[in-house]
Amino acid sequence: MTDLHLPLDRAAGRLAAQIAAGFRSAVRSGRLTAGTRLPSSRDLARDLDVSRGVVVAAYEQLTAEGFLVARRGDGTRIAPLARPDDGPAPLPRGAAPPSPEPRPEPVLPYDLWPGQPDLSAFPRERWIAAARSALRTLPHDVLTYPDPGGVPALRAELAGYLARVRAAHTDPGRVVIMNGVAHGLSALLRLLRADGHTVLAVEDPTSVRQVPMLEASGFRVVRVPVDGEGVDVDALAGTGARAVLVTPAHQYPTGVVLSPARRAELIAWARGVDGLILEDDYDAEFRYDREPVGCLQGVEPDRVVLLGSVSKSLAPALRLGWAVAPPAMAVRLREHRGNTDLGGPVLEQYALAEFLRGGGYDRHLRTMRRRYRSRRDALAEALNVHLPGATVHGVSAGIHLYVELPAGCDEDDVAARAGRAGVSVAGARPLWSPARAGHAPPALVLGYAGLTETRLVEAAELLGRAVTQGAEG
Ligand SMILES: Cc1ncc(COP(=O)(O)O)c(C=O)c1O
Repeated sequence: MTDLHLPLDRAAGRLAAQIAAGFRSAVRSGRLTAGTRLPSSRDLARDLDVSRGVVVAAYEQLTAEGFLVARRGDGTRIAPLARPDDGPAPLPRGAAPPSPEPRPEPVLPYDLWPGQPDLSAFPRERWIAAARSALRTLPHDVLTYPDPGGVPALRAELAGYLARVRAAHTDPGRVVIMNGVAHGLSALLRLLRADGHTVLAVEDPTSVRQVPMLEASGFRVVRVPVDGEGVDVDALAGTGARAVLVTPAHQYPTGVVLSPARRAELIAWARGVDGLILEDDYDAEFRYDREPVGCLQGVEPDRVVLLGSVSKSLAPALRLGWAVAPPAMAVRLREHRGNTDLGGPVLEQYALAEFLRGGGYDRHLRTMRRRYRSRRDALAEALNVHLPGATVHGVSAGIHLYVELPAGCDEDDVAARAGRAGVSVAGARPLWSPARAGHAPPALVLGYAGLTETRLVEAAELLGRAVTQGAEG
């Protein structure tokens, strides 16, 4: 029956199920609407060249599911309640749409929006191989509810990896698997609130995406300025906070690497106030010009919780991350997961464990480091040529640059002009606290992970024009 578009794959068998699936998808897509009368089972069987019993079975199945109604004398129709999927339900009036990704739509041809790796480089084949290998060898009983702190194989692999690559002080008992840094952070903040913490210090500027989550956790969030050496520890000491969230490996967004002196000061501060440092190991995988500095947690494991994820090294979509915490806190985090969400998806955890074990993760990072370094070089050089008045920060690591625009530039105006030329860029002002935003030099945060060198050079040229036109206009 061609006009109903019910394609059948005879070799695949289960023809009644195929017919039922074809009707469901026709209803979901809106191709068949409520009340539409269907051909009799005899007619449809003839058109599809199947036995009548096959169509009767499909109709019965769909009637049982509520997709069809059959009435004597009226034939079989699409049920009034069967609706096409018409996207997400409308939001209540006045409600803001959820905004996990403040990236503007549509994505422009030159996408320099920061915050994600080169998604086209996800190692699909090697990930499939790791997942297949895990699935083939795992006993059935691992498919039950997992250890809420993470499957032992992954905690062990991560403990080894983080000790080797980040100089972390780890053992599997300190590692708790979380659904990314954001999840680890929100769980930790719950525990800190229960311990009586009320003030959380956060760098200024900081990742704007995290601020609503930090504020929703019930803390008074105080912002502490960042200078050329990283977070200002004297200013931190004046806030009254005993917990601080920092990005020492590559400050987000300025790209400053916390200096040795500041690292020492920060640890002395934590000891002095009996406090806790939440170390977001942001961009630590991508250090280009020398060996990465080891994490703070390795220096002061009882006062630092290390938070990391595969969001930048593999893909944010995996939602896989970890917290490395002092043993007592690791136990509480694990209990927290047990009490709130019963743990994360197990097969992905085993796949990552296998990927780490087999060396796939190291190989992927080596490839990506080379690729990103070359892209960074291309963008930094092109900015030098096309935007000579700008100052580029944060080149030593990560997958974005912090570009201070020539004095007098209007960052919003430049971003809007760049957007009209097809270049998507993020202004830096929203990342500063309202108190400092007015004094911060105009700047852009440019993510370079997803564009080839040639396209980055083209984007820099367009950006240069947007700045020049802004100055002339
Ligand atoms: C500085 C910073 N840390 C952490 C995160 C969250 O990362 P994850 O995907 O691991 O939850 C973000 C996300 O935008 C971020 O900007």
